[in-house]
Amino acid sequence: MSQNDPIAFIDLKAQQAAIRPEIDARIKAVLDHGQYINGPEVLELEKELAEWTGAADVVLAGNGTESLEIAMMGEGIGYGDAVFIPAFTYNATASAVLMAGATPVFVDVDASNFNIDATDLEAKIEAVIAEGKLKPKMVIPVDLFGLPADYPAIGAVAGKHGLAVLSDAAQSFGGKQNGKWVGNLCHMTSTSFFPAKALGCYGDGGAIFSDSKERADIWRSIRWHGTDEARKESVRVGTNGRMDSLQAAIVLVKLSIFEDELKRRKEIAKIYEDILSQKISLPIPPEDTESGYGLYSITVDNRDAVQAALNADNIPSAIYYQQPLHQMQAFKKYAPEGGLPVCEMLSQKILSLPMHPYMTNAQAERVATTVINAL
Ligand SMILES: Cc1ncc(COP(=O)(O)O)c(C=O)c1O
Repeated sequence: MSQNDPIAFIDLKAQQAAIRPEIDARIKAVLDHGQYINGPEVLELEKELAEWTGAADVVLAGNGTESLEIAMMGEGIGYGDAVFIPAFTYNATASAVLMAGATPVFVDVDASNFNIDATDLEAKIEAVIAEGKLKPKMVIPVDLFGLPADYPAIGAVAGKHGLAVLSDAAQSFGGKQNGKWVGNLCHMTSTSFFPAKALGCYGDGGAIFSDSKERADIWRSIRWHGTDEARKESVRVGTNGRMDSLQAAIVLVKLSIFEDELKRRKEIAKIYEDILSQKISLPIPPEDTESGYGLYSITVDNRDAVQAALNADNIPSAIYYQQPLHQMQAFKKYAPEGGLPVCEMLSQKILSLPMHPYMTNAQAERVATTVINAL
């Protein structure tokens, strides 16, 4: 390989080459039994994900946006309710709140790790209470780029004001806090199996994790038009929120290699960290917290120049996110007065580097050195 061979941002092709025979066998099994919806793979994956994470129960859903919506519907969230979310996240977090009929209240993030700031969360809750128009009901921390948010700090604020906590872990499967896996860090967790995620399928998929089997059964009903167990009558309002058997089959194969892949992601991150920390400040995780490294993102003052240097060396990079949510057309009517300074600053400086388990050490060193040389 020559010095500047292209490096993939995420290498699904290399992953597929490693697992193709198992994928083919799993797809064949679905075609043979023909239960395309709610087939045995759906039940098997729900069970395996619960065992893997330590959650009491897991419910697959059509995608990560729908899984957030189903969890909110299960808590009775709707019109007149305030749901607190960070403004530095993917648009789905805000869309899901609005689709559930509630009002998003944007909260600033912590500049040291890009996740929701518990101090600003408390300030925003108090402001909503003082205004008296909306009922504060829920907070949705997002584990941005794979790093779990500070659940003990958020839990303390939420507990004080009677708010439910729903974790948006679409980017953080494989993350850990205080010895527990993502999926088991609070009462409710939502994730996405979008193909580019660390644990993805070959289409759309998602899951909701719960510490209560009763709550999970309500989600199972909601994802099937709110029907009772016999699926005869709608006993509550629901939706079509199912993940199909083929997608579950794909995730089952990928879950079987996930721990090895996660180990490799951590090795790549360590190489990045050793080189990058010579010149830039890297995110500081909350205490006893490990990222699942769904993405690897840094902040740089001269982002255009760094991206240009990476491009010149055949290294892809991406900007998540160019705009905080409270500045987007669809959501700006919910922008807090005075804006959200940290989210606004991060959207100018954030840069995501290639991150996947199939990179070589030499490639990781090349990426980090190119960044350092362009600073
Ligand atoms: C933070 C976050 N929340 C929610 C979602 C939505 O997941 P999906 O695309 O599966 O609907 C994503 C997807 O990228 C995400 O990154």
